[in-house]
Amino acid sequence: MSEDPRLDALVAQVRQGRKYRTVAGSLVRRIGAAELRKRASLNEAVKATKNKLHQVAGLYFAGRPDYDDWLRRITRATVEDARRATLRAIMAHHASTRERLPILESFYARIFTGIEPVRSVLDLACGLNPLSLPWMPLAAGATYHAVDIYEDLMDFLQRALALLGVAGRAEARDVLADSPADEADVALLLKAIPCLEQLDPTAGSSILDTINARHIVVSFPIRTVGGSDVGMRQTYAARFHALTAGCRWHIEPIEFADELVFRVTK
Ligand SMILES: C[S@@+](CC[C@H](N)C(=O)[O-])C[C@H]1O[C@@H](n2cnc3c(N)ncnc32)[C@H](O)[C@@H]1O
Repeated sequence: MSEDPRLDALVAQVRQGRKYRTVAGSLVRRIGAAELRKRASLNEAVKATKNKLHQVAGLYFAGRPDYDDWLRRITRATVEDARRATLRAIMAHHASTRERLPILESFYARIFTGIEPVRSVLDLACGLNPLSLPWMPLAAGATYHAVDIYEDLMDFLQRALALLGVAGRAEARDVLADSPADEADVALLLKAIPCLEQLDPTAGSSILDTINARHIVVSFPIRTVGGSDVGMRQTYAARFHALTAGCRWHIEPIEFADELVFRVTK
């Protein structure tokens, strides 16, 4: 199908606004192309593209992130307890990591039990989750590869990884069009499938197939971003079972009060 001649203008208009200036251009292009096919005018398609980006990404940030300040605070907090308190305070700025803070002490300890040593982690659609690294029982010298769609977030995380003494990469990529193919001991796909399926209804099964990891930890939120309990645990458990029906993978549910978690071993 030939490209809509208005697509460059749409991408430029969406990326003009402060909120979406740093979103990976390839994702804006993909959403924009689909919206141009469905909408009557360029303006409507621009608005619909921004709405979609809000639903899958913008919605989760509480206010505008101040990455420079956050880096200064991490740098200053050299004592272990102070550093963890600082990282918790920063993670509270993203709804997904904020919801996990009450279970953070046990979350990674339980997820990684029985699959040690974990020498490499791939964190897909990561948000601020790489800041949980001090809570992850990884092998000495483990590497971390984080991916999300914001260029400025990934620049911040690249610097944060260095401050936390972890070797790794943080890259701005659309995981649907360009999922990392590198091998990892564990891939984290935390609360990401519902967002990715808003971009492409087949995203859940294709990303689970594509990931090249010994274990994949897949999770789902159990409350709306506003905090309401609308039966999401049952809905997403059914969705996950539909996605993995017929796959000969070992699947282990890991019970948490605040998150629906499954560990998949391919
Ligand atoms: C619900 S949040 C989960 C964040 C993190 N995994 C966690 O649980 O703390 C969904 C994340 O997916 C990211 N995202 C949405 N679409 C994406 C895409 N196509 N490629 C990569 N990341 C994406 C958003 O920016 C957002 O950070």
